[in-house]
Parts: sequence; structure tokens; C-alpha cells
Amino acid sequence: MAAIINPRKVAIVGCGFVGSASAFALMQSGLFSEMVLIDVDHDRAEGEALDIAHGMAFGSPMNIYAGDYSDIDDAAITVITAGANQAPGETRLDLVNKNVAIFKSIIPQIAERDYQGILLVVSNPVDILTYVALKLSGMPANRVLGSGTTLDTARFKYALGEHLGVDPRNVHARIIGEHGDSEIAAWSLANISGIPLNDFCELRGHTDHQRNMDRIAEEVKNAAYEIIKKKRATYYGIAMTVKRICEAITRDEKPILPVSNYIDGEYGLHDIVLSMPAVVGASGIEYQVPIKINETETEQLKASAATLRSVIDKLDL
Ligand SMILES: NC(=O)c1ccc[n+]([C@@H]2O[C@H](COP(=O)([O-])OP(=O)(O)OC[C@H]3O[C@@H](n4cnc5c(N)ncnc54)[C@H](O)[C@@H]3O)[C@@H](O)[C@H]2O)c1
Repeated sequence: MAAIINPRKVAIVGCGFVGSASAFALMQSGLFSEMVLIDVDHDRAEGEALDIAHGMAFGSPMNIYAGDYSDIDDAAITVITAGANQAPGETRLDLVNKNVAIFKSIIPQIAERDYQGILLVVSNPVDILTYVALKLSGMPANRVLGSGTTLDTARFKYALGEHLGVDPRNVHARIIGEHGDSEIAAWSLANISGIPLNDFCELRGHTDHQRNMDRIAEEVKNAAYEIIKKKRATYYGIAMTVKRICEAITRDEKPILPVSNYIDGEYGLHDIVLSMPAVVGASGIEYQVPIKINETETEQLKASAATLRSVIDKLDL
């Protein structure tokens, strides 16, 4: 019989750079009263649990410990960050074989427990692995999502905020499609608190729109490559992204986030997972929010989906 879900419990599978940074961000968030860390390297999970627990005297009390899959049963959210990360120059899609094999060892252990919580996939390539998690678990699509381009969108808002001298939270713009090289900056819908983007740019003395747009979109797309070249891995930005998605679910906030979600029919796409805006709340993906992108962006979205589809077609699921 399925366990009763504890809405104040989170599990993290994979305690490397991303898993441990996410655990640290979640401890500080006060969203949960129980957190279990799981890793094939159990010592690593124990070490991270201890280290993070030692900060608790200055934060909200919670039970943090290293565990195994039986500890996932009643977790409201299971964040999966297990798997290889990109070496310098490596693309996210290059990781697919290694990380699909790892997911084949993890997801069945969760599915066999008739898990009723939400799976939040973070490992890369995140769109492909969210698709794999969905198919291998047999869970409903609303309860299996990936962090997708929520991180790229945060980078996009930051870059535009810097360019325009405005709070990134006032930037309404998003990256859609693959979390990877075929991602799309949805410029046609971008605005600054309702003010058309180009009007705001001109207000700030920027007139060379196309050149600036191309530069910012490239910077956002290549941000991970740049960071990995300099410090081997990216983890703080994604940790904040994990915290934001967990917050949306735990507090049933219903923000519109570009998370990786299952698309079948919308935008002329079929049986694919990629990032398009969706309302995220207590049941995971509450509903998709159709957006009207322009013709060029629609073509780019189709190309992004085709890139992902060609990878999925080679998988043995
Ligand atoms: N979605 C995003 O925006 C985003 C951002 C940054 C990194 N990532 C991805 O997150 C993943 C983790 O990156 P990292 O830097 O933490 O890597 P890392 O090598 O530091 O950590 C990976 C961890 O996974 C564990 N692991 C491996 N196989 C496992 C298994 N079968 N069960 C449980 N644990 C297992 C390892 O022991 C290790 O502790 C990578 O795939 C990386 O590309 C995603």
C-alpha cells in the first residue's frame, strides 16, 4: 500500500555538487522539516547530511540524514541530481548514455514503492532524463517534471537586469525548449513590467537591439560552459532553482515556470519533454500555459524538439 505523503519531507538522490548545494539551499529555506540524502556513495551522503546539519543551530530545525530508497516513500518531493556532470567542452546531450544507465538503476527502485510524491529531475540532459523518468516510473505526467529552462530563464533575467539596470524580478522574459544548445530566447514575449523590451532599452540608451539580443542569448546559452571551464561544475544557480520549484510545490504557489514537462499535442509537438511555461503547484504541473510565440520561435521550438526526439529514438527504454 502506498505511504501517506508528508508534505514537509524532501528526498535528494545524488549528493555531488548539485545535490549538496540544493540540500543546503533547502535547509536554509525552512520549507521542510525532514530531508533524506541518498547516494551510491553512502559516506558522501552521510558527510553532506552532517555538514549541513551543523548549520541548523542558525536555521530552522529539521531532521537531515543519509538514507536509502525506503526513506523516499513518504517524501512529498524527490529531487534527482545523480549522474555524471559535463566535463569542459562536453554538451549535456553527450551525457545521455551514462545518465540513462544511472536512471535505469534509480527510477525502478522508486516506482516499485508505488511512490505518490513528485519527481523533480535535475540531472542532465534534463529533458531526456525527465522523459526517461516518466516512462520508467509509469507515474502521471503532472508528477514528473524537470528543472528545464527555469535556470536558463533566471540567467536570462539576470543578464537583462544587468544590461538595463533593473531588478531581474521585473524582467518578464523566458528561455524555452531544450535546456541545452537548442534552447530559445522567446524575445517576442519579453517585457519589463509590461513595458515593451525595446522601449525600455531605448529609455536606458541602448539602440542596437539585434546585436544586444544576440549577445545576451548567446551568453545565457553558454553560461554553463563558461562556468565549467572556470570552476569545473555549476551548482549555486541550480540550487536556487531547485529551491524555487520546491517552494512552488510545497506552498502551492502556482507560479508560471518554464519547467520540463510532457507535451503531447500542444505547439504541434508530440510525445516529448521540454520546457514550456506551466503553472506549478501542490500537484506538480497543474496546467500548461499556452503562449503565442512568433513564427521564427515556433520553427526554433520544432527544431529543439526534433533534436531531443532524435536522442530519445536511440534509447532502449
Ligand atoms: N538541470 C540543470 O540545470 C543542471 C545544472 C547543473 C548540473 N546539472 C546536472 O546535475 C548532475 C549532477 O551534477 P554534479 O555536478 O552534482 O555531479 P557530481 O559528479 O558532483 O555528483 C553526482 C553524484 O551522483 C552520485 N550518483 C551516481 N550514480 C548514482 C546512483 N545510481 N544513485 C545515486 N547516486 C548516484 C555520485 O556518487 C555523485 O555523488 C549532472 O548530470 C549535471 O549535468 C543540471
